[in-house]
Amino acid sequence: MQFRLAPLFCRPWALNGITPRLIESHYETNYGGAVRQLNLLTEELEALDPTTAPAESVSRLKRDQSAALNSTLLHELYFASLGGDGRAVPEAMAAALTRDFGSVDRWRREFMALAEALAGGSGWVLLTWVPRDGRLVNQSAVDHGQSIAGGIPILALDMYEHAYHIDFGSNAKAYVAAFMRNIVWSEVQGRYEDAVKVAPPRPLEQKEFADVPAISVEEVRAMIDSGTPVQIIDARPRHYTTRSHEIMEGAVWRDPERLDDWIGEISKEQPVVTYCVYGFHIGCQTAIALRQAGFDARYMAGGHFAWKAVGGKVRRLEE
Ligand SMILES: [Fe+2]
Repeated sequence: MQFRLAPLFCRPWALNGITPRLIESHYETNYGGAVRQLNLLTEELEALDPTTAPAESVSRLKRDQSAALNSTLLHELYFASLGGDGRAVPEAMAAALTRDFGSVDRWRREFMALAEALAGGSGWVLLTWVPRDGRLVNQSAVDHGQSIAGGIPILALDMYEHAYHIDFGSNAKAYVAAFMRNIVWSEVQGRYEDAVKVAPPRPLEQKEFADVPAISVEEVRAMIDSGTPVQIIDARPRHYTTRSHEIMEGAVWRDPERLDDWIGEISKEQPVVTYCVYGFHIGCQTAIALRQAGFDARYMAGGHFAWKAVGGKVRRLEE
Protein backbone atom coordinates (compact mmCIF):
# COMPACT_ATOMS: atom_id res chain seq x y z
CA MET A 1 0.00 0.00 0.00
CA GLN A 2 1.22 3.48 -0.86
CA PHE A 3 1.80 6.11 1.80
CA ARG A 4 -0.29 9.16 0.99
CA LEU A 5 0.88 12.74 0.81
CA ALA A 6 -0.80 15.21 3.19
CA PRO A 7 -1.84 18.67 1.96
CA LEU A 8 0.09 21.61 3.36
CA PHE A 9 -1.55 22.57 6.65
CA CYS A 10 -0.20 26.06 7.31
CA ARG A 11 -1.03 29.09 5.15
CA PRO A 12 2.37 30.16 3.79
CA TRP A 13 1.25 33.73 2.97
CA ALA A 14 0.18 34.34 6.57
CA LEU A 15 3.51 33.50 8.20
CA ASN A 16 5.54 36.13 9.94
CA GLY A 17 9.11 36.43 8.59
CA ILE A 18 9.04 33.12 6.71
CA THR A 19 8.35 33.42 2.98
CA PRO A 20 5.99 31.31 0.87
CA ARG A 21 8.96 30.53 -1.37
CA LEU A 22 10.76 28.78 1.49
CA ILE A 23 7.68 26.83 2.57
CA GLU A 24 6.87 25.82 -1.03
CA SER A 25 10.37 24.58 -1.71
CA HIS A 26 10.44 22.77 1.64
CA TYR A 27 7.05 21.16 1.05
CA GLU A 28 7.67 20.15 -2.53
CA THR A 29 11.31 19.13 -2.47
CA ASN A 30 11.93 17.83 1.01
CA TYR A 31 8.56 16.70 2.30
CA GLY A 32 7.45 15.48 -1.12
CA GLY A 33 10.85 13.87 -1.58
CA ALA A 34 10.47 11.97 1.69
CA VAL A 35 7.04 10.62 0.71
CA ARG A 36 8.27 9.64 -2.76
CA GLN A 37 11.32 7.92 -1.33
CA LEU A 38 9.18 6.18 1.28
CA ASN A 39 6.97 4.72 -1.43
CA LEU A 40 9.88 3.70 -3.65
CA LEU A 41 11.62 1.94 -0.77
CA THR A 42 8.38 0.28 0.25
CA GLU A 43 7.83 -1.04 -3.28
CA GLU A 44 11.38 -2.27 -3.40
CA LEU A 45 10.93 -4.09 -0.11
CA GLU A 46 7.63 -5.60 -1.18
CA ALA A 47 9.27 -6.95 -4.33
CA LEU A 48 11.92 -8.78 -2.32
CA ASP A 49 11.57 -12.26 -0.96
CA PRO A 50 12.85 -11.85 2.62
CA THR A 51 13.87 -15.51 2.79
CA THR A 52 16.23 -15.33 -0.19
CA ALA A 53 17.24 -11.64 -0.38
CA PRO A 54 20.63 -10.81 1.18
CA ALA A 55 20.06 -9.85 4.82
CA GLU A 56 22.18 -6.68 4.45
CA SER A 57 20.02 -5.31 1.63
CA VAL A 58 16.80 -5.93 3.54
CA SER A 59 18.31 -4.34 6.61
CA ARG A 60 19.56 -1.29 4.68
CA LEU A 61 16.23 -0.82 2.92
CA LYS A 62 14.33 -1.08 6.21
CA ARG A 63 16.63 1.48 7.79
CA ASP A 64 16.12 3.91 4.90
CA GLN A 65 12.38 3.25 4.98
CA SER A 66 12.21 4.14 8.71
CA ALA A 67 14.11 7.37 8.05
CA ALA A 68 11.79 8.30 5.15
CA LEU A 69 8.69 7.50 7.20
CA ASN A 70 9.92 9.57 10.15
CA SER A 71 10.82 12.41 7.80
CA THR A 72 7.29 12.27 6.34
CA LEU A 73 5.58 12.26 9.72
CA LEU A 74 7.78 14.98 11.23
CA HIS A 75 7.45 17.28 8.21
CA GLU A 76 3.66 17.05 8.46
CA LEU A 77 3.90 17.97 12.12
CA TYR A 78 6.30 20.81 11.33
CA PHE A 79 3.94 22.42 8.81
CA ALA A 80 1.06 21.91 11.25
CA SER A 81 3.09 23.68 13.97
CA LEU A 82 3.17 26.96 12.02
CA GLY A 83 0.52 29.63 11.45
CA GLY A 84 -0.04 31.26 14.82
CA ASP A 85 1.58 34.17 16.60
CA GLY A 86 3.69 32.07 18.95
CA ARG A 87 3.01 34.26 21.96
CA ALA A 88 -0.43 33.34 23.20
CA VAL A 89 0.03 29.95 24.86
CA PRO A 90 -3.47 28.76 25.82
CA GLU A 91 -4.12 28.08 29.48
CA ALA A 92 -4.16 24.26 29.43
CA MET A 93 -0.97 24.13 27.36
CA ALA A 94 0.75 26.67 29.60
CA ALA A 95 -0.25 24.63 32.66
CA ALA A 96 1.16 21.45 31.09
CA LEU A 97 4.47 23.16 30.19
CA THR A 98 4.72 24.65 33.68
CA ARG A 99 4.04 21.26 35.28
CA ASP A 100 6.76 19.49 33.28
CA PHE A 101 9.38 22.23 32.76
CA GLY A 102 8.87 24.63 35.67
CA SER A 103 7.54 27.46 33.49
CA VAL A 104 6.66 28.27 29.87
CA ASP A 105 9.76 30.43 29.69
CA ARG A 106 12.01 27.64 30.89
CA TRP A 107 10.47 25.27 28.32
CA ARG A 108 11.04 27.88 25.60
CA ARG A 109 14.68 28.43 26.55
CA GLU A 110 15.41 24.71 26.58
CA PHE A 111 13.62 24.13 23.25
CA MET A 112 15.48 27.01 21.57
CA ALA A 113 18.84 25.96 23.00
CA LEU A 114 18.37 22.46 21.56
CA ALA A 115 17.51 23.99 18.19
CA GLU A 116 20.46 26.36 18.14
CA ALA A 117 22.79 23.48 19.01
CA LEU A 118 21.72 21.84 15.74
CA ALA A 119 22.72 24.85 13.62
CA GLY A 120 25.00 23.66 10.85
CA GLY A 121 23.95 20.07 11.49
CA SER A 122 20.68 18.39 10.72
CA GLY A 123 17.86 17.13 12.84
CA TRP A 124 14.63 17.90 14.61
CA VAL A 125 13.64 19.45 17.89
CA LEU A 126 10.42 18.00 19.23
CA LEU A 127 8.07 18.54 22.11
CA THR A 128 6.87 15.03 22.87
CA TRP A 129 4.24 13.50 25.15
CA VAL A 130 5.33 10.26 26.84
CA PRO A 131 2.23 8.21 27.78
CA ARG A 132 4.21 5.87 30.06
CA ASP A 133 5.12 8.71 32.39
CA GLY A 134 2.29 11.07 31.60
CA ARG A 135 4.63 13.97 30.88
CA LEU A 136 6.08 16.16 28.16
CA VAL A 137 9.76 16.19 27.19
CA ASN A 138 11.84 18.17 24.72
CA GLN A 139 14.03 16.06 22.53
CA SER A 140 16.48 16.61 19.78
CA ALA A 141 16.45 13.94 17.05
CA VAL A 142 19.55 13.84 14.90
CA ASP A 143 18.75 12.97 11.29
CA HIS A 144 15.31 11.37 11.20
CA GLY A 145 16.03 8.90 13.96
CA GLN A 146 16.00 8.77 17.72
CA SER A 147 12.29 9.28 18.17
CA ILE A 148 11.13 8.27 21.62
CA ALA A 149 9.48 4.85 21.44
CA GLY A 150 5.80 5.25 22.23
CA GLY A 151 6.21 9.04 22.45
CA ILE A 152 3.77 11.34 20.65
CA PRO A 153 5.41 14.49 19.26
CA ILE A 154 3.05 17.48 19.34
CA LEU A 155 5.37 20.26 18.10
CA ALA A 156 8.24 19.95 15.61
CA LEU A 157 10.98 22.32 14.52
CA ASP A 158 12.91 21.30 11.40
CA MET A 159 16.60 22.17 11.80
CA TYR A 160 17.80 20.85 8.45
CA GLU A 161 19.42 23.63 6.46
CA HIS A 162 16.83 23.23 3.71
CA ALA A 163 14.25 24.50 6.22
CA TYR A 164 15.82 27.96 6.40
CA HIS A 165 18.68 28.71 3.97
CA ILE A 166 16.45 30.35 1.33
CA ASP A 167 15.27 33.01 3.80
CA PHE A 168 17.96 33.05 6.47
CA GLY A 169 21.15 31.82 4.84
CA SER A 170 23.22 30.26 7.58
CA ASN A 171 21.60 32.34 10.31
CA ALA A 172 19.93 29.48 12.14
CA LYS A 173 19.35 31.64 15.22
CA ALA A 174 17.16 34.08 13.30
CA TYR A 175 15.24 31.15 11.83
CA VAL A 176 14.62 29.62 15.28
CA ALA A 177 13.34 32.99 16.51
CA ALA A 178 11.05 33.26 13.46
CA PHE A 179 9.73 29.75 14.05
CA MET A 180 8.91 30.61 17.66
CA ARG A 181 6.96 33.67 16.45
CA ASN A 182 4.82 31.47 14.22
CA ILE A 183 3.86 28.60 16.50
CA VAL A 184 0.13 27.95 16.33
CA TRP A 185 -0.49 27.11 19.95
CA SER A 186 -4.17 26.30 19.59
CA GLU A 187 -3.22 23.39 17.30
CA VAL A 188 -0.39 22.27 19.59
CA GLN A 189 -2.86 22.22 22.46
CA GLY A 190 -5.35 20.22 20.36
CA ARG A 191 -2.68 17.60 19.72
CA TYR A 192 -1.76 17.64 23.41
CA GLU A 193 -5.39 16.97 24.34
CA ASP A 194 -5.46 14.01 21.93
CA ALA A 195 -2.10 12.69 23.14
CA VAL A 196 -3.06 12.59 26.81
CA LYS A 197 -6.00 10.33 25.90
CA VAL A 198 -3.62 7.63 24.67
CA ALA A 199 -3.46 4.85 27.24
CA PRO A 200 -0.01 4.29 28.72
CA PRO A 201 1.59 0.86 28.21
CA ARG A 202 -0.23 -1.66 30.36
CA PRO A 203 1.38 -2.05 33.79
CA LEU A 204 3.87 -4.89 34.13
CA GLU A 205 1.97 -6.72 36.85
CA GLN A 206 2.59 -10.24 38.08
CA LYS A 207 -1.01 -11.43 37.77
CA GLU A 208 -0.42 -14.35 40.09
CA PHE A 209 0.24 -11.98 42.98
CA ALA A 210 -1.95 -9.09 41.86
CA ASP A 211 -3.89 -9.03 45.13
CA VAL A 212 -0.81 -9.00 47.40
CA PRO A 213 -0.02 -5.40 48.37
CA ALA A 214 3.22 -4.28 46.75
CA ILE A 215 5.50 -1.31 47.29
CA SER A 216 7.85 0.12 44.70
CA VAL A 217 11.61 0.43 45.24
CA GLU A 218 11.25 4.22 44.92
CA GLU A 219 8.67 4.26 47.73
CA VAL A 220 10.90 2.11 49.95
CA ARG A 221 13.83 4.45 49.30
CA ALA A 222 11.67 7.46 50.18
CA MET A 223 10.66 5.76 53.47
CA ILE A 224 14.32 5.12 54.35
CA ASP A 225 15.39 8.65 53.35
CA SER A 226 12.65 10.27 55.41
CA GLY A 227 13.43 8.10 58.43
CA THR A 228 10.03 6.35 58.38
CA PRO A 229 10.35 3.22 60.55
CA VAL A 230 10.24 0.10 58.38
CA GLN A 231 11.44 -3.46 58.83
CA ILE A 232 13.01 -4.70 55.63
CA ILE A 233 13.45 -8.42 55.22
CA ASP A 234 15.55 -9.92 52.46
CA ALA A 235 13.88 -13.29 51.90
CA ARG A 236 16.04 -14.55 49.07
CA PRO A 237 16.43 -18.32 49.19
CA ARG A 238 19.53 -19.54 51.02
CA HIS A 239 21.08 -21.09 47.89
CA TYR A 240 20.89 -17.67 46.27
CA THR A 241 22.42 -15.65 49.07
CA THR A 242 25.39 -17.98 49.27
CA ARG A 243 26.19 -16.92 45.69
CA SER A 244 25.49 -13.23 46.16
CA HIS A 245 27.74 -11.15 48.35
CA GLU A 246 25.59 -8.13 48.84
CA ILE A 247 22.36 -7.13 50.48
CA MET A 248 20.22 -4.01 50.41
CA GLU A 249 21.33 -1.51 53.02
CA GLY A 250 18.91 -1.46 55.92
CA ALA A 251 17.67 -5.00 55.25
CA VAL A 252 18.22 -8.18 57.23
CA TRP A 253 18.39 -11.56 55.55
CA ARG A 254 16.01 -14.21 56.84
CA ASP A 255 15.67 -17.70 55.46
CA PRO A 256 12.24 -17.91 53.82
CA GLU A 257 12.18 -21.66 54.56
CA ARG A 258 12.36 -21.01 58.29
CA LEU A 259 9.80 -18.27 58.78
CA ASP A 260 8.61 -19.75 62.08
CA ASP A 261 12.09 -19.32 63.56
CA TRP A 262 12.28 -15.58 62.96
CA ILE A 263 8.70 -14.33 62.85
CA GLY A 264 8.88 -13.65 66.62
CA GLU A 265 11.70 -11.10 66.07
CA ILE A 266 9.63 -8.68 64.01
CA SER A 267 7.26 -6.09 65.36
CA LYS A 268 3.61 -5.58 64.51
CA GLU A 269 4.00 -1.89 65.34
CA GLN A 270 6.01 -1.08 62.21
CA PRO A 271 5.38 -1.87 58.56
CA VAL A 272 7.29 -4.77 57.02
CA VAL A 273 8.73 -4.92 53.51
CA THR A 274 9.91 -8.25 52.13
CA TYR A 275 11.61 -9.03 48.90
CA CYS A 276 13.42 -11.74 47.02
CA VAL A 277 15.66 -11.83 43.96
CA TYR A 278 13.29 -10.43 41.32
CA GLY A 279 10.32 -9.57 43.46
CA PHE A 280 7.88 -12.36 42.83
CA HIS A 281 7.23 -15.80 44.29
CA ILE A 282 9.30 -15.98 47.48
CA GLY A 283 8.99 -12.30 48.42
CA CYS A 284 5.25 -12.37 47.74
CA GLN A 285 4.74 -15.66 49.57
CA THR A 286 6.61 -14.31 52.57
CA ALA A 287 4.47 -11.16 52.51
CA ILE A 288 1.32 -13.33 52.33
CA ALA A 289 2.45 -15.45 55.29
CA LEU A 290 3.28 -12.35 57.35
CA ARG A 291 -0.04 -10.70 56.49
CA GLN A 292 -1.87 -13.83 57.58
CA ALA A 293 -0.01 -13.64 60.88
CA GLY A 294 -1.29 -10.06 61.35
CA PHE A 295 1.70 -8.02 60.13
CA ASP A 296 1.42 -4.93 57.95
CA ALA A 297 3.58 -6.53 55.25
CA ARG A 298 4.11 -5.71 51.59
CA TYR A 299 6.50 -7.10 49.02
CA MET A 300 8.95 -4.87 47.22
CA ALA A 301 8.19 -5.08 43.50
CA GLY A 302 11.23 -6.05 41.43
CA GLY A 303 13.14 -7.33 44.49
CA HIS A 304 16.90 -7.14 44.97
CA PHE A 305 17.64 -6.34 41.33
CA ALA A 306 15.11 -3.52 41.12
CA TRP A 307 16.70 -2.00 44.22
CA LYS A 308 20.12 -2.21 42.54
CA ALA A 309 18.70 -0.90 39.26
CA VAL A 310 17.49 2.34 40.89
CA GLY A 311 20.95 2.76 42.40
CA GLY A 312 19.86 1.80 45.93
CA LYS A 313 22.67 1.29 48.45
CA VAL A 314 23.87 -2.21 49.24
CA ARG A 315 26.26 -3.52 51.85
CA ARG A 316 28.38 -6.63 52.02
CA LEU A 317 26.44 -9.68 53.08
CA GLU A 318 28.27 -11.35 55.95
CA GLU A 319 28.36 -15.13 55.78
FE1 LIG B 1 12.63 19.62 6.22
